[in-house]
Amino acid sequence: METTLKNKVAIITGASSGIGEAIAKALAHEGCKLVLAARRIKRLTALREALTEAGAEAIVVQIDVTSPGQWKCLVDKTMETWGQIDILVNNAGIMPLSFIKNLRIDEWEQMIDVNLKGVLYGVAAVLPLMRHRKCGHIINISSTAGRWLFDGGAVYCATKFAINAFSEGFRREITASEGIRMTLIEPGITSTELHLGIKDPDVLHAGNNQPPITPLQPEDIAKTTVYALSQPQHVNINEVLVMPTNQKL
Ligand SMILES: NC(=O)c1ccc[n+]([C@@H]2O[C@H](COP(=O)([O-])OP(=O)(O)OC[C@H]3O[C@@H](n4cnc5c(N)ncnc54)[C@H](OP(=O)(O)O)[C@@H]3O)[C@@H](O)[C@H]2O)c1
Repeated sequence: METTLKNKVAIITGASSGIGEAIAKALAHEGCKLVLAARRIKRLTALREALTEAGAEAIVVQIDVTSPGQWKCLVDKTMETWGQIDILVNNAGIMPLSFIKNLRIDEWEQMIDVNLKGVLYGVAAVLPLMRHRKCGHIINISSTAGRWLFDGGAVYCATKFAINAFSEGFRREITASEGIRMTLIEPGITSTELHLGIKDPDVLHAGNNQPPITPLQPEDIAKTTVYALSQPQHVNINEVLVMPTNQKL
């Protein structure tokens, strides 16, 4: 039987657009109390207004996930407001694809900082509280890029492979003995703003010989997230690969 998410406190990073925004709407619909987190405060505020008008409870916290200090402020604010943390959705991510030969080292570092360190800092920020209560659920939004390489994606894929490895390590070390669950969600191509971060001219001008793909919508990943979070305590949905039906790789 599915567990209700009503009154669970959920932090969602990258809630200002795309998949994170859709997850926030879906969790609001389920009755969660939300912490909407990202850098673009105006978009978060607009989302909070729309959600609260519809009867949901949400606060906005501006955060750059690459800063452990800002993670601490986010957790403090959440505890001050709601008194507990049940769910963390580590969704914030960037994808400035580039070819290795172009040595766009700043972008490599940004991807490592946001996609990898941002997730680790998030886990570090909530884990002591979850261990204390012996419950909690962390969702990591990885990607098909965490399983397969593609041209121009070497560093992006490396960050997502790392999240997959970390999630498996967490499962073995923490979930099995302490009951804190972690779910890895690996979306395929999803219609969002993510591609706007691509600046390498060689990637932008590279031809795409793939047949056209009907992308997932952010709401498809939100439904997967609700499914994973709604399982009873003895069930951990470890990993979910969700792809457009006509995406091959
Ligand atoms: N779209 C796809 O095809 C696809 C496929 C597989 C996996 N994913 C993954 O899905 C996740 C969400 O991406 P999306 O597709 O929804 O793209 P998106 O619309 O561009 O959303 C990315 C989110 O990450 C936030 N973010 C970026 N850097 C941040 C930082 N330093 N601190 C805090 N927040 C930050 C952005 O918010 P601010 O700019 O306001 O901070 C934004 O809300 C990413 O992890 C991505 O890798 C996407």
